[in-house]
Amino acid sequence: MQEGQASRTADRVAERRAAHQVRDRPLVLDDPIALRIIRPEVAHELRTNPPKHETTKLGPYLRAFFVMRSRFAEDALASAVADGVRQYVVLGAGFDTFAYRNPFPELRVFEVDHPATQAIKRQRLAHSQIEIPSSLTFVPIDFTTTKLDDALRGAGFDETEPAFFSWLGVVPYLERPAIDATFQYIASLPEKTAVAFDYSVPPQSLSWTQRLVFNAMANRVAAIGEPWKTFFDPATLLADLRRLGFTSAEDFGADALNARYFADRTDKLRIGGMGHMAMASV
Ligand SMILES: C[S@@+](CC[C@H](N)C(=O)[O-])C[C@H]1O[C@@H](n2cnc3c(N)ncnc32)[C@H](O)[C@@H]1O
Repeated sequence: MQEGQASRTADRVAERRAAHQVRDRPLVLDDPIALRIIRPEVAHELRTNPPKHETTKLGPYLRAFFVMRSRFAEDALASAVADGVRQYVVLGAGFDTFAYRNPFPELRVFEVDHPATQAIKRQRLAHSQIEIPSSLTFVPIDFTTTKLDDALRGAGFDETEPAFFSWLGVVPYLERPAIDATFQYIASLPEKTAVAFDYSVPPQSLSWTQRLVFNAMANRVAAIGEPWKTFFDPATLLADLRRLGFTSAEDFGADALNARYFADRTDKLRIGGMGHMAMASV
């Protein structure tokens, strides 16, 4: 992220989730707040002329990936809640809207994010008159300088109870030591704790055409000051997650995710071949 500035990738991701609400049927992620949390001028454009917002062939694949990963996390969260989990930590929350449409009365939500991004989010919430529920606690931290456990403890997070964590669109932007420290902390929490996250595979493991797409996307995020830094090989990742303390870990590639979330559509919306989600549990 650029010094003193809110995350620009957070805006881009939220705008694609908002585009999904007006462009795609059936919805993969039904988010009535998505259009209200983004920049007002983009929301206006999406409401009045949605195709104008999508200018590259890559657009639908990105939109599909961003809505899929939120849905993936929220489905896993719903299972965790059914299993008795009562704390949800949204790591690198950006303009995620779950907390404002939380259907679980007993679920406490902690939105952890860089202070610069969180400040803009709070302005947008106020501007759009989106109520901040009493179940939500904001936890402003920079992952590279502040320890997650200290910040969460200070925010009233209960380390004696399990929690579900989502970490969407953040891992590639961090250095490996910060990622491992976070995984290690999550893995140290009580049984039934779990984390859902997405990650990128190393570019050298991609086909020639995938690498072209990868380079285009990597150049775009680097150009706005948020370069990708860390990649994982799926097989090594699962072993690493166990080494860091998780008792189980599962990887989901594009075929499995497309089968789960995009089967039987007539509009061909689907994620590209490079997308990966993972779940690790205690
Ligand atoms: C691509 S956005 C994803 C946002 C959100 N999870 C979503 O899916 O919409 C990346 C998020 O990571 C956060 N982030 C990046 N580097 C960070 C750091 N060093 N400390 C805290 N948050 C960070 C940004 O503020 C931003 O909200």
